[in-house]
Amino acid sequence: MSVTFHIETVGCQMNVLDSELITASLLREGFQYVENPKLADILLFNTCSIRQHAEDKIYSALGRLKHVKKYYPQKILGVIGCMAQKEGEMIFSRAPHVDLVVGPGQIARIPYLISKIRAGQTPQLELSLDRRGKNRQEVESSFDFYDPTRDLLARENPYQAMVRIMFGCDQFCTYCIVPHVRGPEQSRGMEEVLAEVQQLASQGCREITFIGQTVSKYHDESGNRLSDLLEKTERITESSSLQRIRFVTSHPNSMTPDLLEAVRDLPHVVPYFHVPAQSGSDAVLKRMNRGYTVQKYREMLDEIHQTVPGAAITSDFIVGFCGETEEEFQQTMKLTEDARFKNSFIFKFSPREGTKAYQLYADDVPEEVKKRRNNELLELQNRISAEDNERFEGQMVEILVEGLSKNMKKLPVLTEGFPEEEEKTGFGKGGMSGEEKPEEMVQLTGRTACDRIVVFDGPRSLAGTMQNIKITRTSAFTLFGEMMVSGREE
Ligand code: 5AD
Ligand code: SF4
Repeated sequence: MSVTFHIETVGCQMNVLDSELITASLLREGFQYVENPKLADILLFNTCSIRQHAEDKIYSALGRLKHVKKYYPQKILGVIGCMAQKEGEMIFSRAPHVDLVVGPGQIARIPYLISKIRAGQTPQLELSLDRRGKNRQEVESSFDFYDPTRDLLARENPYQAMVRIMFGCDQFCTYCIVPHVRGPEQSRGMEEVLAEVQQLASQGCREITFIGQTVSKYHDESGNRLSDLLEKTERITESSSLQRIRFVTSHPNSMTPDLLEAVRDLPHVVPYFHVPAQSGSDAVLKRMNRGYTVQKYREMLDEIHQTVPGAAITSDFIVGFCGETEEEFQQTMKLTEDARFKNSFIFKFSPREGTKAYQLYADDVPEEVKKRRNNELLELQNRISAEDNERFEGQMVEILVEGLSKNMKKLPVLTEGFPEEEEKTGFGKGGMSGEEKPEEMVQLTGRTACDRIVVFDGPRSLAGTMQNIKITRTSAFTLFGEMMVSGREE
């Protein structure tokens, strides 16, 4: 009987990609992936520490596993990712039944560390260096670049892939733990990134997303910038299945003309920008150390609209940051109203030990006020998103079909008839069973170039194809439509 594993992943796209890479490395070791965490011999939590809530949830999950470990002492329990780097030894003190703690800069070592634990050497701890008071180069090299050959089997969806182009962050926004747990900002070499894209394209990948904490700041040692990388990637679309190129997350201070022009001129680079504002108040932005004023941010938005007409722009906001007055919050409402973002991710401020805000400012906005501001901003954004989506009613949009819609995924009956490989590993290649009888229509989902979610009925075999969909109904989050044989693009 082979040894089974499961990875529970929370947090951002970096974590989703890391889990894919770890899955690939464990499959290569001969371990078998299981969908059900209860059946796993090795259970890993890939964690996030951006907000306290995310950490609390992991500690309570670990607490619940204490008795499981008592009955099944051979089970290997691991905490990996940002919270592992932040908490380190503390995890063993609070949950002594944990066998493995590995930071995000050390994930290449997971198979080796697991082999040590299986040989009886438990627990194992592997972290990158703390940034404070250390030589930059030493710290940089303690965060491994781990981007091995991509393994199709480990991806949930073969048609879409993320490609890391940067590690870490040097912005040090005062609220944010990321520069501490993900280390110094480092860009991967362009040629290496292109080789990875080429490999993904040859595996049939149709959409790649370049990811980095401040992706618009990408620059490698040979002086290549994000615009250069996009241009070279565009060339790969000429001779492969690759259709769409995305990048997230941008920083407002690095939306340079060359980048905007690249998005305008390269047909396969989607006109979509995620450029978090975080606040609409100069005083708050200053306390956050964001490095721009609201005026500058607005000018940046104007430049995007002028250079790339019709581009979709999304943002993140933190409400209830230290000292945020009602007037400052209303300035955030005003910016949201004026900017008309396609959507915004809104978070209540959560103080993080180790950050500047934690040292310098009191977390003085009461929880009820944070909640109220969160709801108020969310309501406004949802109204804007709903209005924005309404204009698609009766229009034709081009989408990349991703697969079953979320609602359908919950129905167990739909897993019947999946290829055997998919049932076993939980990571299938999508697509069809190859039967000749007419296919059942199921509820499918896909996305437009501007990242709008589209739900429609069609045969499952459409997963991974581009389709024209006529939109019949819309909500703040979704466009609903019908398949069309031909049409025009969004
Ligand atoms: N509290 C609340 N939200 C935070 N973010 C980052 N740090 C914190 C924090 N301490 C939000 C920011 C960032 C997004 C990924 O998470 O809006 O853009
Ligand atoms: Fe955190 Fe700011 Fe870096 Fe984003 S840019 S990861 S919010 S420090």
